[in-house]
Amino acid sequence: MGYFDTLIDKFGENPELEEAFGKHIHWGYWENPTKATGSLMDFAIAANNLSKLVIKTAEISDGVTILDAGCGFGGTISLLNESFSNLNLYGVNIDNAQVERAREVIKPQNNNNIQFINANACDLPDFKTLFDYSIALECIFAFPSREIFFQQVRKNLKSSGKLIIVDFIINPQIRKFWAWFEGQILSRLITDTYGSKATNQVEFIGIKDYETIANKTGFKLEKVIDINKNVQPTYPVINKLIIDNFNDLMTAKGLEIFSQLNLISYQILIFTTE
Ligand SMILES: C[S@@+](CC[C@H](N)C(=O)[O-])C[C@H]1O[C@@H](n2cnc3c(N)ncnc32)[C@H](O)[C@@H]1O
Repeated sequence: MGYFDTLIDKFGENPELEEAFGKHIHWGYWENPTKATGSLMDFAIAANNLSKLVIKTAEISDGVTILDAGCGFGGTISLLNESFSNLNLYGVNIDNAQVERAREVIKPQNNNNIQFINANACDLPDFKTLFDYSIALECIFAFPSREIFFQQVRKNLKSSGKLIIVDFIINPQIRKFWAWFEGQILSRLITDTYGSKATNQVEFIGIKDYETIANKTGFKLEKVIDINKNVQPTYPVINKLIIDNFNDLMTAKGLEIFSQLNLISYQILIFTTE
């Protein structure tokens, strides 16, 4: 049982957990990682800063229509709602408990429209509108298929649209070893961490794989931003939470070690339509 499966229940028992993961469920971004303090408040600010960076990198402006696939508790939608006006925001998530919390907590402001929808990102509903942007922030590795997700997004994106992915990218030099490791060990580590509500299996891929998927589905990989060094202070913070709340040292250390060695790096990928 991983932390998604019990996270909302645990918020009641442990306010610190809610502070860290009540809004965003992703890694933190520190412009200057040496300034990270290791506190939960610092981590929560850094997690918000990652969403800010994604929004800035995507060059989002007022009046656009955005799909946040795998939106979690809607932290990025909440930030967009506070920062811009006249947006049409759609958050899709496979776990209805997260969708319900997002609906409860996030109320439209600045003349924005917000809809949170319980659906699979690989089987998107008919939105009856096209998107300017589609975001998948630290969740695509849990989707049933990246290629199907790209196809689904392409159908729902304007011709000038952008797809922004934040993902753990594997180093090409370890691809073969990775295939073995992922099947044997990593899926367990991640599903333990994220929980069976979030995912039953995960798959990490490299940049070349992303280019192949993009080519097949009508996208072009426009920009890659490697922020691996800027997310490193996440690990000590979440490791402590995972050990305290879920007693799983192995899970806690797994990703950290690969990340420190740059065998997995945390990156923002921007795709444009072809
Ligand atoms: C690490 S969280 C990231 C949440 C959110 N993007 C954020 O940055 O806070 C991964 C999310 O992906 C969702 N998810 C997993 N598989 C999914 C799928 N097939 N369709 C939609 N959401 C999915 C999980 O429920 C979880 O909310």
